[in-house]
Amino acid sequence: MSGLKLRGVRKSFGAIEVIKGVDLDIESKEFVVFVGPSGCGKSTLLRMIAGLEPITAGDLEIGGARMNDVDPSKRGIAMVFQTYALYPHMTVRENMGFALRFAGVAKPEIARQVDEAARILELGPLMNRRPKELSGGQRQRVAIGRAIVRHPQVFLFDEPLSNLDAELRVHMRIELARLHKELATTIIYVTHDQVEAMTLADKIVVLRDGSVAQVGTPLQLYDDPDNLFVAGFIGSPKMNFLSGVVAAGGSTVRLPDYGDQSIPVAALRSRPADGTPVTVGLRPDHFKRGGAAHLDLNVELIEHLGSETYAYARFGKGEVLTIATQNDRDLKAGARLAAHFDPASALLFDAAGQRIR
Ligand SMILES: Nc1ncnc2c1ncn2[C@@H]1O[C@H](COP(=O)(O)OP(=O)(O)OP(=O)(O)O)[C@@H](O)[C@H]1O
Ligand SMILES: [Mg+2]
Repeated sequence: MSGLKLRGVRKSFGAIEVIKGVDLDIESKEFVVFVGPSGCGKSTLLRMIAGLEPITAGDLEIGGARMNDVDPSKRGIAMVFQTYALYPHMTVRENMGFALRFAGVAKPEIARQVDEAARILELGPLMNRRPKELSGGQRQRVAIGRAIVRHPQVFLFDEPLSNLDAELRVHMRIELARLHKELATTIIYVTHDQVEAMTLADKIVVLRDGSVAQVGTPLQLYDDPDNLFVAGFIGSPKMNFLSGVVAAGGSTVRLPDYGDQSIPVAALRSRPADGTPVTVGLRPDHFKRGGAAHLDLNVELIEHLGSETYAYARFGKGEVLTIATQNDRDLKAGARLAAHFDPASALLFDAAGQRIR
């Protein structure tokens, strides 16, 4: 079994604490993605799991055994970095077999392992080339191959695709999803790209400033964020945020910046009192024809992407809102738009940014 358990894990560099008490359970064979803005601690947390960075406080278990003080080579993990230094003078085959040769594994066994990894990664025809004769994506696959031959219980990836161009990233993303199915191992994958996180993860861990902001499946985070940070981080284009005030016995939110329009809100368990300042969150794709609520807006700009049309619209001194229209090709800048939505899709957040449910 190769599940992981983190309890109260902390990391300080000198006087500065960068990981501030992380509790996390990762199931065996799960594909877990750490996502968050630059500097939030993703790489540090991964390096602590790998054993490349000592853990200042708390406990790390892998497969049920405490690993805090276990040597990196004995943790049953393999790590693939963003910058993967392949040996330039070695062929693909030699690069992939290097760790096994170093460990004194017999030649026929090395050949078997390397051939198996090459099959999984579709590197067969490239085995005798040197790194400089490969594309970026092919080099990345060789770097993954080097990790596969070690048969780790847990794979750690730190932004492995960030050096690749957009098209190759999408291709490698699909390859990685396939690889996870074929290898059936635990994968922890770091990225700051929320699309990568949404598409690859069984479970996403959103990190913010050294703490866990929320853990959930991609759709749990998308549909049911716990706070403004997660609501704004997950989803592209971003969720719209409108500041308002609870009114009419909790049944509506008044939007002073949008010409004092009021929108109905679904009944909430916590019944916020009238006058409570709130932020209303509405995703661009929450706007739908036939929704029982609406906002009157002026369209400032239209973007036709072919399959989608985005309207950028505002009213009064309110912020510009992004609205995914259902490919309304006739909509023009300057037009009035009654942007309809279902009141139940509007999320409310309190002044501290926590979700009101
Ligand atoms: N060796 C170190 N000494 C001191 N501070 C460090 C060290 N390594 C990282 N930090 C700090 O710890 C914090 C977290 O860094 P980390 O590299 O984990 O961020 P990250 O989430 O991986 O960011 P990015 O997306 O930019 O890679 C940052 O504020 C960084 O400056
Ligand atoms: Mg990093």
